[in-house]
Amino acid sequence: MKTDSLRGRDFLTTADFSREEIQTIIDVALDLKMRFAVREPHRLLQDMTLFMIFYGMSLRTRNSFEAGMTQLGGHAHYLSPGEIYTPALDDELREYRTESVADVARVLSRMGHGIAIRCFGQAVNWVYGAGQAVLDGFAKWSDIPVINMESDMYHPCQGMADILTMKEKLGQLDGKKFVMSWAYSPRSQKPLSVAHSALLVTSQMGMDVTVAYPEGFDLDPMVMEKVQANADRYGRSVEIAHDMKEAVRGADVVYAKNWTSRHFFPPETDAPQPEEVQKLFEENRHWMCDEDTMKLANSNASYMHCLPADRNFEVTSAVMDGPQSAVFDQAENRLHAQKAIMALTMGG
Ligand code: CP
Repeated sequence: MKTDSLRGRDFLTTADFSREEIQTIIDVALDLKMRFAVREPHRLLQDMTLFMIFYGMSLRTRNSFEAGMTQLGGHAHYLSPGEIYTPALDDELREYRTESVADVARVLSRMGHGIAIRCFGQAVNWVYGAGQAVLDGFAKWSDIPVINMESDMYHPCQGMADILTMKEKLGQLDGKKFVMSWAYSPRSQKPLSVAHSALLVTSQMGMDVTVAYPEGFDLDPMVMEKVQANADRYGRSVEIAHDMKEAVRGADVVYAKNWTSRHFFPPETDAPQPEEVQKLFEENRHWMCDEDTMKLANSNASYMHCLPADRNFEVTSAVMDGPQSAVFDQAENRLHAQKAIMALTMGG
């Protein structure tokens, strides 16, 4: 791999990067983590600026990017929708509150060194894929790297923190069993992005993957085709299950979390159908990861969740706070993984 192969590139989904490039991000993240641990300065992005545009709430993503830029010697601007004109794709321009994505991207490109964006859900009227289209629009027009802080399709920074955590826990990932399972939440509008990104990166790094969900919660077929292509390329398997307990047998990692059903939102429907999707959710309240579920996995298996978690709905507190839980390691690794992504893409 060419040393500077990531420099200047957008980070929209891990699927845009080779296995060697993903491994490089992991290696750099581990190096930066060690330097952070011994408080060795590593001002690799001195005097540089990252613009962070958030169309939704965040604890981990905002704070890990902001702290990460400080540690790298630069600064991260936090921009919430109420503080800027809403970037709109050209055919959506309306009123004085919006500004073309093409214009926003070119203006910010003249002032800083990276643009990071979170966009899904309410910001794009719950149209599946429309958040990713905003990210793609920024990437098209920006001269500086665009980083995906979570769209309706991908959460690649979470995916990198997840694979970094698995590497730390398991060492060699080849042939290890990764289970991504749907779990019940009282809140029925969580995006599919975390599940998509975790499956893309684990299959690319040679893990056997299993996806478990009740009928109606299948993932995007375009993403699953890429997951299958990774498995074929590296001689691994992709399994689909409709029972969480069956799926976790022999697992090395159990990632049980909620995602919504895209079948109740545009473009599959004319308008969002929140009541119908909630009804389907309530039929599947029993999809919760508890200690009995974890006993079916390997004895040293990790429980993973991107957080925020709905305790005692998606997962019991006993599992979340138990010895197999990796959730706080994952949260910390957001910092180290993103610092590596920023240093490699924005660094000079
Ligand atoms: N996991 C994650 O993206 O958390 P936030 O929504 O708090 O940023």
